[in-house]
Amino acid sequence: MDASGDGVGDLAGITSKLDYISALGVDAIWLSPFYPSPMADFGYDVSNYTGVHDLFGTMTDFDELLAEAHSRNLKLIIDWVPNHTSDQHPWFAESRSSRINDKRDWYVWRDGAPDGGPPNNWMAAFRRAGRAWTFDESTGQWYLHSFLAEQPDLNWDNPEVEAAMHDTLRFWLDKGVDGFRIDVAHKIGKDPGLTDNPADVEEFTALDPMRRHDQDWPSAHERLAAIRRVVDDYPGRMIVGEVYILDLERLMDYVNASDELHLSHNFVFLHQPWDADAFRKLLEGMEELTSPEAWAAWFLNNHDHSRVATRYGPHAVRAAALLVLTLRGTPFLFQGEELGLPDAPVSPDQEVDVDGRDPERAPIPWEAPSSNGPGAGFSSGAPWLPITPEAERLNAATQSEDPGSTLSFYRRLIRLRRQTVCLQSGSFELLSSPKEGLAYVRGEAEHRMLVVINFSDAEVCFEGALAGLQGTARVALATDPESRPHEVDLRAVPLSPGEGLILHL
Ligand code: GLC
Repeated sequence: MDASGDGVGDLAGITSKLDYISALGVDAIWLSPFYPSPMADFGYDVSNYTGVHDLFGTMTDFDELLAEAHSRNLKLIIDWVPNHTSDQHPWFAESRSSRINDKRDWYVWRDGAPDGGPPNNWMAAFRRAGRAWTFDESTGQWYLHSFLAEQPDLNWDNPEVEAAMHDTLRFWLDKGVDGFRIDVAHKIGKDPGLTDNPADVEEFTALDPMRRHDQDWPSAHERLAAIRRVVDDYPGRMIVGEVYILDLERLMDYVNASDELHLSHNFVFLHQPWDADAFRKLLEGMEELTSPEAWAAWFLNNHDHSRVATRYGPHAVRAAALLVLTLRGTPFLFQGEELGLPDAPVSPDQEVDVDGRDPERAPIPWEAPSSNGPGAGFSSGAPWLPITPEAERLNAATQSEDPGSTLSFYRRLIRLRRQTVCLQSGSFELLSSPKEGLAYVRGEAEHRMLVVINFSDAEVCFEGALAGLQGTARVALATDPESRPHEVDLRAVPLSPGEGLILHL
């Protein structure tokens, strides 16, 4: 939400929408980076870890947002980007100024290979960025950047870097933030020998068993444990890592460790096709690998990926929400997902992101364009990215009034979860079900709830007897807005295409 009218969302805008966020029923907000930044990667290129970018407001605006959030019992988590800074950060300016500068070793500088090329074969995560190395003419060496050349990697092998970064955490912890989302947490440990990666390692290769040298090194775990110790000095704070590893076993190393991150986002989950069998296999795999202390973090939408309404299609929106909000773990939602927003079409001349992520980042339509103008209540100016053409139907104001809307469904679903202990912390048991669907039970003491979801576009029938269930059960929530609370016979529970139900057993 843009309060200043410059077309870009800002802190004061978020503060003005806290009542909407409260009404949604969530417990916490995660803010993407709002620090001073040249915005080569939309704030993930930080030039000052303890400031606020003018574009987003002032430190006073931040303090106000934090206080207003807390007064509504909303926690505030902020994004912390430890792997790299902006090339405009004063640390990097010093580091690149000469080979003998005190901060030279705060970044990863190396001589080129004997053939004059980069020091090794590591590639940047963004395809358009190419190699992970850039040659610096003035000092005649190469520096490492896992993302853009404007995002040089900090050298976490240097204890001074680690200490300085811990101080940035303390700055925000002292202010009272409730925790951090740690950007590319698995990348703060790399092979200090800078060994080449195996030739066919590709970023985001699913289930790649090969050891990569540019991330997920054992030192990442030690460093996360040290970060946890800093955070644990402050009661009640939380760290969630963006651990973008698509090998379930390696990911679980981060989830299972009880003295590192509290939570790790599970990208294997996000990468599943909309297919019940795929999710079933993943959930079974996780159950096998999860330690009793581990606590999952589920999500199917974020600022780096096509939205569910586009990736899976509009028919999957409610069923996907039901899944994310009833699995055992902490669910994360992405702004606008509660409206069922699709990706916005972005023409080449409107593109601003280097990695094709504009469509999912398009602003929230707060009001109908027909009554509030082309900015759809997001901005009185020209929005930084196009507003979805479906704003007239999908805007927040219109959906708020409509009990059958996706927004009303999310509100009911989140309310049910808040009121129901077994959906929050109860046990999880997968049941046998038709292969087009998923069925599981969440249980806590005497209370058990059954969740059944039909992933297909045909009707399927869940037969309770095959899963050891008998008698009747009362529907607590259905994806179908027309459905009223009713009892179903567990011998045969028919599910229409894309339908999901939560039932009291
Ligand atoms: C993470 C962020 C992404 C950013 C990248 C580099 O993946 O989610 O938006 O571009 O890190 O910081």
